[in-house]
Amino acid sequence: MSQKIAVVGAGFIGRSWAMVFSKAGHHVSLYDIDPVALSEAMNLLEINIADLESNGLISSKDDLLGRIQPYKTLEGAVEDAEWVQENALENVQIKRKLFSQMDELLPETTILASSTSAIPCSDISNGMKGAGRIIVAHPANPPYLLPIVELSGAPETKDETIFRAKELLEAADMEVITINKEIKGFVLNRLQVALLNEAFKLVEDGIVSGADLDKTIKHGLGLRWSIMGPMETIDLNAPGGIRDYLERFGPAFEAIAKEQSSIRPWDTSRFIKMEEERRKVMPINDLRERARWRDRRLMALTRHKEESDKHYGK
Ligand SMILES: NC(=O)c1ccc[n+]([C@@H]2O[C@H](COP(=O)([O-])OP(=O)(O)OC[C@H]3O[C@@H](n4cnc5c(N)ncnc54)[C@H](O)[C@@H]3O)[C@@H](O)[C@H]2O)c1
Repeated sequence: MSQKIAVVGAGFIGRSWAMVFSKAGHHVSLYDIDPVALSEAMNLLEINIADLESNGLISSKDDLLGRIQPYKTLEGAVEDAEWVQENALENVQIKRKLFSQMDELLPETTILASSTSAIPCSDISNGMKGAGRIIVAHPANPPYLLPIVELSGAPETKDETIFRAKELLEAADMEVITINKEIKGFVLNRLQVALLNEAFKLVEDGIVSGADLDKTIKHGLGLRWSIMGPMETIDLNAPGGIRDYLERFGPAFEAIAKEQSSIRPWDTSRFIKMEEERRKVMPINDLRERARWRDRRLMALTRHKEESDKHYGK
């Protein structure tokens, strides 16, 4: 059933959510505090939606675009919305201010969801009158091509909110997981942080170049991960399944895990070095075009997965 969905913040994640909801047949109001960001988002949406059409992933570019309306005020955007997806900056004060404004503006039947990458729901909703309808719905970038959404409520979040959130997102072709206890970074980013922490050390210690490290994921782990997770992966990596795998490799891998547990500060001097390395292979002005390339590759992969799911099963 078509609903009115408000998308607040029109950067990377907000404009991508706008496509998810519009593709599902909803009417989307898109708001950003910065009018330049809002008009840029509308231009970028045209490009991405045209790519979706030319890749056969939607039937009508005009239908999708026609259901997305830009709004210059928060009040106008959220009026009569049944769902709000917030995508402002990753800053708890900004999010709390927005959620308390929206909590005042909207009836308790409207679900207020945040795309936050790592802030627990309670830090956003704590003390608010309508805390029961506030939830985190964390996507991966870009949500219009990566279907995962992590739902994570605060203790005050009502079961009905989680139930309705799952229903709406699954009807929009998203793959929903529920986080059972509040935790910073949920699951996706906890896994990503563990990987990045080790990746940074391997590059800094001169064990491998950044480019070769990326190759290891792109032509190795990542290729397999696009069809199965690490649990299923190891179940298939020894003739007798997961227990056999752990008996064979567990002692060596435990010793490595102990070495990996040290933390180096994630500080500016480190960021500058990594920036220098990346700029040697990709000038800053090429990033936007490269993101379009990424999205087109993901579109092709989506089509391939749809076909191969039919032939081989998921
Ligand atoms: N980039 C990612 O990989 C990623 C993935 C998943 C979730 N997220 C989360 O999504 C949210 C948005 O991230 P992003 O990557 O889209 O950032 P972004 O910088 O691309 O976009 C943020 C947008 O929010 C706008 N904004 C700032 N304050 C606002 C306010 N008070 N009201 C309305 N708009 C406001 C900014 O003008 C900007 O256009 C963050 O919470 C982030 O953690 C990001």
